[in-house]
Amino acid sequence: MPEMLSLRQLFALLIAVLTTGSILAETTTNTLVIHADQGRDTISRNIYGQFSEHLGHCIYGGAWVGEGSPIPNTRGIRNDVVAALKKIQVPVLRWPGGCFADEYHWMDGIGPRDQRPLRVNSNWGGVTESNAFGTHEFLDFCDQIGAAPYLGGNVGSGTVEEMAQWVEYMTADGNSTLANLRRINGREQPWRIPFFAVGNESWGCGGNMTPEYYSDTFRRYNSFIKDSPGRRIYRVASGASDWNFNWTEVLMKNVGQRMNGLSLHYYTLPTGNWSHKGSATKFTAADWHETLRRALLMDELVKRHSAIMDEFDPQKKVGLVVDEWGTWYDVEPRTNQGFLYQQNTLRDALVAGLTLNIFNRHCDRVKMACIAQLANVLQAMVLTENDKMIVTPSYWVFEMYAPHQGATLLPADLRAADYELNGQKIPAVSASASRDEAGKIHVTLCNLNPDDSARVDCELQGATARRLSGRVLTASEINAHNTFDQPDNVKPAEFTGFKATDNGFTTTLPPKSVMALELK
Ligand code: AHR
Repeated sequence: MPEMLSLRQLFALLIAVLTTGSILAETTTNTLVIHADQGRDTISRNIYGQFSEHLGHCIYGGAWVGEGSPIPNTRGIRNDVVAALKKIQVPVLRWPGGCFADEYHWMDGIGPRDQRPLRVNSNWGGVTESNAFGTHEFLDFCDQIGAAPYLGGNVGSGTVEEMAQWVEYMTADGNSTLANLRRINGREQPWRIPFFAVGNESWGCGGNMTPEYYSDTFRRYNSFIKDSPGRRIYRVASGASDWNFNWTEVLMKNVGQRMNGLSLHYYTLPTGNWSHKGSATKFTAADWHETLRRALLMDELVKRHSAIMDEFDPQKKVGLVVDEWGTWYDVEPRTNQGFLYQQNTLRDALVAGLTLNIFNRHCDRVKMACIAQLANVLQAMVLTENDKMIVTPSYWVFEMYAPHQGATLLPADLRAADYELNGQKIPAVSASASRDEAGKIHVTLCNLNPDDSARVDCELQGATARRLSGRVLTASEINAHNTFDQPDNVKPAEFTGFKATDNGFTTTLPPKSVMALELK
C-alpha cells in the first residue's frame, strides 16, 4: 500500500505542478567534445577579478573596520574577510569605483586619518566619506589578500596633473616631493601598480562624454601616466555599456593600441527594467529562466564587441576588460536605496558559473573581468553584519573555478538540450575546460534547468580520464541562500556521480547546479 501523502506533501506537489508544469523530473542528454589536443590560449587569471567601490558597506564595514575596532583586523582590515578572499585567490582588485572614482581626489585619502577631509559621497546615498580608507589602506588590503591592484583615475572631475601625481606618488622611486610624501606617510618602497583605468563610464556618471571627446581625453590623460623603469602600467580605457557598439568602434579607431585594455560593463537584471529590477530572493521559475537568459547575453556581447575590436586589432593586442558584471536586483527591503545591498542565491551562483564559462571560452580577447562587487554590494562574495561574515553561493563558484586561473583553455563543442519556459529557449548546460600546468584537466559545468537533471556525455580528444573527482553546488530551492543564522545552506559538496567511458566520461548534473570536475 503506498503511503498516504501528508497535506504538506500534497501542497508541495501542487506547487511543483503549478511552477514547472510537470511532476516528473527528467534527465536531458547533452554532449560535450573537449579538444584536449588543441589548447592554445591562456585563461588570464585576471578574469577572476573583483571590484570594490566606496559604495554602501563594500569598503566601510565590508573590508575596513579601523584599527580600533573590536572586530579582529590587521591594520584596520577585517581578518575574516581577508581569510575568505585568500581562499578564492583573488587575482586583481579594482578600486575606488565605479562612479565614485570620477569624484575621488586621491590626496583626500593620504596622511593622518584624523586630518583627512570629510566629503559627500554624492553617487551612493549622499553619506559622509571619511577617507579613512585611502591609497595606503587599499594597497595594504591588496597585499593581505594577494591581489594585484587595479586603480581607477578620476577623469570626470579631476585634472591630468592630479592623475599623473597619483601615479608618481605610488610608483616613483627617486627623490621627488611626492615620493618623499609617500615615505613620510609610511611607505618607503614604491608600489607596483600593474593596472590603471583612465576614467569610468565616461559616457555617463564619469562625465557624460561622447566617444569622440573621450577618445581625445584618454589620449591626453594617458600621455602623463608614466611607467617606472621595467614596470609597465596596463592602461584601461573606459568602455561601452551593454549594446553600445559605436563606443567600442570609435575608441578602437581613435585610441587603438594607446590603450592596453578597453572596458565593457554589463549587468543582469531579471526584468531588464531599472525601475523594477526584481527581488534577489523572492522570484518564480519564470524569473529564474529570464535571469539566466539575460546573463547568457554576455556571450553575444563579448562576441560582438570583440568582432569590432578584431577589425582594428586582428592580433588581439587590446584586451576586453569586463570590469563590471553581475546581477543587479532591487535593494533588500529596509536597506538604504543608495547602498545596493542584495542577497545572493543559487540563481546568482548559476549566473556566476555560466558567465565565467563564457569568459574562459573567449580568453583570447577577454583579459580581465571584475564582478560587482566584493562585499555587501550587488553580486557580492561576502556579506557582513557587524562582526559576522558569511560567504555567498557566488563566492563558492569562484572557489570551484579557481583552477582555471592561468590554465590553458581547451576548446570544447557543446550540444546542449533546450531549457524551455513560456516559449523561450536557452541551453540547459554551460561548460568550459582547461588544462593546468600540472597537466590536470578542469571542466566546469552548469545545469541551468531547475527541474531536470542533465546527463553530459563527454568525449575527450587527445587525453584520457584515468581518475576523476568533482564537487557540486546545488540546493533544494531555487532561491536557497546563506544567512547569518544559517551560513552553510549553500556550499559545495563532493560529487561522485560520473564514470569514465572508452573515450571520455559521463556525468549527471543535478537540476540547478554548478559542477567542477578534475581529470587526471
Ligand atoms: O557597480 C555599481 C555602479 O554601476 C558603478 O559605480 C558604476 O560604474 C556602474 O554604473
